[in-house]
Amino acid sequence: MTDTVDDRLVALLSPYAACAEEDLRLWLIEPGVPSTLAEAMRYCVLSGGKRLRPALVLMAAQALGADARDELPRRAAVAIEMVHCYSLVHDDLPAMDDDKLRRGLPTAHVKFGQAMAILAGDALLTRAFGVLAEADSGPTALLCGELAGAAGPSGMIAGQVADMDLCPLPAGLEGLEYIHLRKTAALIRSAVRMGALAAGADAATLSALSNYGRSLGLAFQLIDDLLDVLGESQKMGKATGKDAQAGKKTHAAQIGLDGARQLGERLTSAARSALEPLGPSLQPLRLLAQLLAERTH
Ligand code: IPE
Ligand code: IPE
Ligand code: MG
Ligand code: MG
Ligand code: MG
Repeated sequence: MTDTVDDRLVALLSPYAACAEEDLRLWLIEPGVPSTLAEAMRYCVLSGGKRLRPALVLMAAQALGADARDELPRRAAVAIEMVHCYSLVHDDLPAMDDDKLRRGLPTAHVKFGQAMAILAGDALLTRAFGVLAEADSGPTALLCGELAGAAGPSGMIAGQVADMDLCPLPAGLEGLEYIHLRKTAALIRSAVRMGALAAGADAATLSALSNYGRSLGLAFQLIDDLLDVLGESQKMGKATGKDAQAGKKTHAAQIGLDGARQLGERLTSAARSALEPLGPSLQPLRLLAQLLAERTH
């Protein structure tokens, strides 16, 4: 039997995901953390997930000639997944998307209560920067700044504010792009950039990879929204049909399913083309863009 796209995606990500998972487990051990908080933090991080962002860090670093087992890309991979996990915990809260299922399990606030979920999220965000800053050598300040910019008030949080209708937005597709660029593409672009920075990439390489990350991130959120309409909750490990119910702005709502699919293809193709000047070592990242576009969960 031939492998499905989802199998091929897992196979491509799995060596990097396994490395990140092992490191996350270790970095979550810290003296002085109340055991109830430590348990909640572990639950938020070690309960599945594709590990896309850490894989992007490690794949980009490796493609540019660094050893993916080096300290800096590994710390960057851990840090960005901690930030991503915190963002999911807060995204699921009753005041935000009010979700009860995440990665096939009860969301953090269902399991531990809202106060602990908020605090575990806060703890993961803070811990992420500690993990990065404490590296022995390399451009740690640059990496901290990169992650802070992507995750902060002009990046992911601006996107979440816009997603929640808490700020004025341009109408139509422009407004949607504003949201997606920030709430999702900022962190995905930053993952690729952190891998490149850890590998000492030059300005031209960094710029090409930034364009890849931007288009990949936009495509990723577009597909996530499409799967909210078309996907199976059990496979996704989260509720579906929620975006329309909550009146979220999506491509499906604005340009229909076919229009959304076509835009998804254009974004994926833009991501792949952005890597062309960089040569064959970037092939795994090109393949990743294709598989993510065709995923079913
Ligand atoms: C979910 O991200 C949130 C979005 C930005 C759409 P992922 O789909 O990467 O979630 P996990 O980490 O695999 O659970
Ligand atoms: C989440 O977007 C983006 C962030 C967490 C920053 P969604 O709200 O669409 O993600 P899901 O569908 O809950 O995973
Ligand atoms: Mg949301
Ligand atoms: Mg959500
Ligand atoms: Mg979604």
